[in-house]
Amino acid sequence: MAVEMTFAKGESMLDPKAYRDAMSEVASPVHLIATDGVAGVAGMTVTAHASISDQPPTMLVCLNRHSPSTRRFLENGVFSLNALGAADEALADIFAGRTDAHFEQKFTHGDWRKGVTGAPVLRSALVSFECRLIDVKDVETHHVLIGAVVAVAHGGAGASLLYRRRGYDRSRK
Ligand SMILES: Cc1cc2nc3c(=O)[nH]c(=O)nc-3n(C[C@H](O)[C@H](O)[C@H](O)COP(=O)(O)O)c2cc1C
Repeated sequence: MAVEMTFAKGESMLDPKAYRDAMSEVASPVHLIATDGVAGVAGMTVTAHASISDQPPTMLVCLNRHSPSTRRFLENGVFSLNALGAADEALADIFAGRTDAHFEQKFTHGDWRKGVTGAPVLRSALVSFECRLIDVKDVETHHVLIGAVVAVAHGGAGASLLYRRRGYDRSRK
């Protein structure tokens, strides 16, 4: 049965939980974003990303401004975005901070190489994009990082790791 969410009378905003519940119905490909440079190495699991343009190749990623890793992305000015295959579910948990591993400890998991920007690039990713940070927009709780894509690398084959209904979607494995 379809349930319609509407504004309560006089409210200007949808309830955040109703928004989160609605977003949880949408399957999102899981990526690892990684950086290295003057501020040190950092990596996070992300689903909030999008392509903006192909002329020139440009993409965006939304990072929570309260995550300890976020500052390193802003200061280093480079990042890689690595699309995970279904076999890399454990890496997604590690880079989401669901274990005791933080910062460099996260990178003892997975097969990483140094990319042309200096950012770590995951060899098992379905595809990796390397970006130079060209702009940052502050929107509510998040920084929107806008990156000029300077390199791509094609990696493993197979199904994407998807996140839906607050868990990994195993239906396509
Ligand atoms: C499936 C999934 C998707 C996520 N997507 C994002 C995202 O798009 N942006 C973000 O800032 N955090 C996102 N997170 C949360 C971060 O991965 C997490 O806060 C961060 O990596 C914590 O690591 P730390 O404690 O080592 O800093 C996501 C987490 C999961 C499990």
